[in-house]
Amino acid sequence: MVELLRRETGVRGHPENESFAEESTPPSCKCPGRTTTSSSDQYASQFRVLGQREALAPCGGDHLETHVVGPGVVVLADAICDRGRIAPGDDRINEAVASASLDVLIAKAESAQVLRVIGEPEIQAGVLAGQRGQLDPEAVGVDLEPLVIGVGKGEHILASDPTAIMKHTKKVIYLEDYDMAVITGDKAQIHNLKDKKRPTQKAELLDYDNEQAVLGDFPNFMLKEIFEAPATIRSAILGRALADRNLIKLGGLESVLGQLKYIDRIVIVACGTSYYAGLVGEYLIEELAGIPVEVQLASEFKYRDEPFSRSTALLAISQSGETADTIAALKKVENYGVLRLGIVNSVGSTIARMTDAGVYCHAGPEQAVASTKAFLAQVTVLTLIALHLNDGQTKRFKPLLEELDDLPAKAQEVLDNADEIKRIAEKYANYRDFLYIGRNNAYPSAMEGALKLKECSYLHAEAYAAGEMKHGPLAMIDKDFPTFVIVTDSPLLEKTYSNIQEIRARGGPVVALATKGNTAIKELCDDVIYMPATPLETQPILHAIVTQLFAYYIAMSRGYDVDRPRNLAKSVTVE
Ligand code: F6R
Repeated sequence: MVELLRRETGVRGHPENESFAEESTPPSCKCPGRTTTSSSDQYASQFRVLGQREALAPCGGDHLETHVVGPGVVVLADAICDRGRIAPGDDRINEAVASASLDVLIAKAESAQVLRVIGEPEIQAGVLAGQRGQLDPEAVGVDLEPLVIGVGKGEHILASDPTAIMKHTKKVIYLEDYDMAVITGDKAQIHNLKDKKRPTQKAELLDYDNEQAVLGDFPNFMLKEIFEAPATIRSAILGRALADRNLIKLGGLESVLGQLKYIDRIVIVACGTSYYAGLVGEYLIEELAGIPVEVQLASEFKYRDEPFSRSTALLAISQSGETADTIAALKKVENYGVLRLGIVNSVGSTIARMTDAGVYCHAGPEQAVASTKAFLAQVTVLTLIALHLNDGQTKRFKPLLEELDDLPAKAQEVLDNADEIKRIAEKYANYRDFLYIGRNNAYPSAMEGALKLKECSYLHAEAYAAGEMKHGPLAMIDKDFPTFVIVTDSPLLEKTYSNIQEIRARGGPVVALATKGNTAIKELCDDVIYMPATPLETQPILHAIVTQLFAYYIAMSRGYDVDRPRNLAKSVTVE
C-alpha cells in the first residue's frame, strides 16, 4: 500500500471548491513499482503520449535514469547525499531532504519541477521540487511549473496535468510552492522546504469518471469532445441558471458579491481559444451588464505598464488553469489590491487557487490538444456572469435564461448535421488558405474558427471583422482563397451579404454558416451550413461547434493526428 505523509493543501479562494481536481501535464515512462518521470522540457510532447494514447511511452524497461537525469539532477542528488552522508536508497534520505537548506537545493536545481532521481532505478529513490507558480522565478532562479503526483498501486506517476494520468489513478497530490517529494518504493513523502512545520499534503481524488478517460466509439478525443457539446452546456448551467425562478446562482462568486458592486471595469486575460471566449465575453458583459470590458492576451498584458484602479477586476480565463502567461498576468496585479477572478475548467489548478473567486466550467477533462468543449463552457459561463452582474435588470434576463435551457438540444441539432459539415469540409480540404469573417460577436467566432483550422490542419487561416474587408483583406481574394462567412441572424445580416457579394465578384469561393430557414443565402454562396436559430448572445456557442467540426473534418481528410497536432502542447506551462 502506498503510504503518504499528508498535509492540507490550503486551497485558496476560487470557486465552488468541489472535490474533483485539476488538469495539466505528463510523465514519460511507467514501470510497475517504479517512479515515472519527465523532465520539464519533455512535458509538453509527452503529455500527448500519456494523455491521449492507450499505451504509455516505452520506458525501456528499467532505464528510468535515461529519461530524466540531467546534470542538475545529479548535482542535486549529490548535494543532498553528501550533506547527510547517506548512500542512495538509504531510508534516511527523507530526513536529509527535509533538513537540506532551500538555498542549496534551489541553487543546484535546473528546474524546480524536474524529478531528481537519486541512485539506481531499482532503489527508486527520487526527489522533486514542485511549483504551483506562485513564486517569482527570478528570485529563485528556476523555471516554475506545476506538478502533480499520481499515486497508483505500487507506483507513482508524475505529470503537470492530471488528465495525463487519470487512466492510471485518480489519487493525486498537488505539489505546492517549495514542495519537495521524496519517492522511495511505494511511499511518497512530501516536505515543504520553506515551511518545515507545514502539515502534510493530502492526496485528493480526481472527480473524473472513467467514461471521460476513454474513447468509447469515437476515433479520437477531439471528435468525442466536440460531441460532448450538449452535455457540456448542460453541465455549465446546472444548478446555476434557474429559469423557473428567474435566478442565477454562482456559488463561486458569492464571497465577492459586495466587491463586484463597485467594479466599473473588467480586464479579461487569457490565451488562445480562451482569449477568444473572452472576446465573446466582452460583448456579453458590456451589453448585458453595462460594464466596460477590455480583453488582453495574457502574454502581452504581463509586459504592459498600464493604469489600473482598484475598481477594476481582472478576470482570467483558462481551461487548464496552468497556462504560464495567464498565471503571470494574475501575478502581475497581485499587489494592486484588485479583485482577481477566474473562469477555469480544471478544479484545483494554479489559476483556480490564485484567484479570489470565480466560476468553474465543469466541462470535464479535455484531452485533445485543440480546445473544443471548454470554449463552449467558457462562453456559457460568461453569459451567466454577464446576466448575474446585471442583477436581473435587463429585459434579456429571462429570455436568455430560458434559451440556455434550450441550448443543449440545439447543440445536438448541429451535431446531427455532422455528415453534411463533413461533406462540405472535404470539398475544401485541398485549399492552402482560408479567410474567416463575421460581424459583432461572430467576429471572435471567426477568430476561433480560424485558430481551429490552423492548429488541426496546418493551413493558413486568418480572421477579419467582415467590415474590414475593403480595408485590405479583399486584395487576397481569388479563386484559390475561400472564405468562411458567419452570417447568422443579426441586425447586421444585410451588411455581411454585401461582403459575400464582394468576395464572390472576385472569384472567391464562399462557405456560409447561416441560420436555418435562411434560403436567400443559398443564392449568394457556394455552400451553406445551417444551424438552429438562437438569440444573438448565444450564437457563438453554436458557431463554435460548426467551426470545430469543419476544422476537424478538413484535418482528418488531410490525414493529420487531430488529437496531437504537431508542435503544440495541451498545457502551456512555460512562456
Ligand atoms: C487552442 C488551444 C489553445 C489554448 C491556450 C490557452 O485550441 O487549445 O490556444 O486555448 O493555450 O490554454 P488554457 O485555456 O488552458 O489557458
